[in-house]
Amino acid sequence: MKSKYIFITLFLALVASVATTPAAHAQVENEKQSQEIVTLFRAARKVISDNQAHINDATKGDKGLSAAAVVQKTKENFQNDLKRSVDDTPADSPTGLANAALLTAVGEVMTDAQVLINEQGKGFKGFLPAVFARQVAEKFNTGMNGRAFIKLTAPRDLLRNRSNRTDEWESSQIETKFRAAGWEHGKPVTEETTSKGRQAFRYLLPEYYGQSCLSCHGGTKGEIDITGGTKEGAKLGELGGAISFAIYLD
Ligand code: HEC
Repeated sequence: MKSKYIFITLFLALVASVATTPAAHAQVENEKQSQEIVTLFRAARKVISDNQAHINDATKGDKGLSAAAVVQKTKENFQNDLKRSVDDTPADSPTGLANAALLTAVGEVMTDAQVLINEQGKGFKGFLPAVFARQVAEKFNTGMNGRAFIKLTAPRDLLRNRSNRTDEWESSQIETKFRAAGWEHGKPVTEETTSKGRQAFRYLLPEYYGQSCLSCHGGTKGEIDITGGTKEGAKLGELGGAISFAIYLD
């Protein structure tokens, strides 16, 4: 009897070890890393959107949004979202290294932005969540030195800044999945494919317009918004863009 159970246990252990091949394991790890870095990226951008009125306040000088303060608030937003600290991720793991590169980028962008955002007597300064996100992405991508990249992007018909334009893969995921009837709200796509001609694990998360977005992206199509850009005439809840993350596998 007893040996029969031992046999079954061994058999189940063998099945389990075959089920988690190195490739499947890598897939799970890459997905976890993507979720974590995209959560951190959004956590950082939320600091800027939460403080938009404050940043635009002409009566105030120092906004108290130093590099250290924004990194700290980013970590708090991450904790609220994932219910654990970003510092719990082992610092020397691939995810830990990517997190550190992202937080470094956040700090650098805020250091560079101090003169602009602390200018007294000036209201709207053009320092928006999307602008901040683009600058953070650029610095993160430089810091990762070809091992990964992140980008805030948008469908071609909604694009404001050409630097944020989609590549073929992003565009096709947006059009055939995110914009397809019945696509589950907020569901990302992941795929092992190519990016810039290299083998990569890719992750794309859809984002939708909330009420606060419509003063610029909503209204009547063609009207001019506070930034001097052209309103898209979007409606509440419509797909507004996506966050794209890639881990290079070569
Ligand atoms: C004050 C006006 C304003 C508001 C409010 C605003 N945006 Fe934007 N958005 C812009 C501008 C300007 C850009 C171009 C930024 C740049 O230069 O990278 C932009 C860029 C973007 C992009 C990047 C792709 C592109 O078109 O270049 C996305 C995605 C986006 N916005 C979504 C949103 C969402 C979602 C919200 C609400 C949570 C929002 N925006 C709120 C003005 C605004």
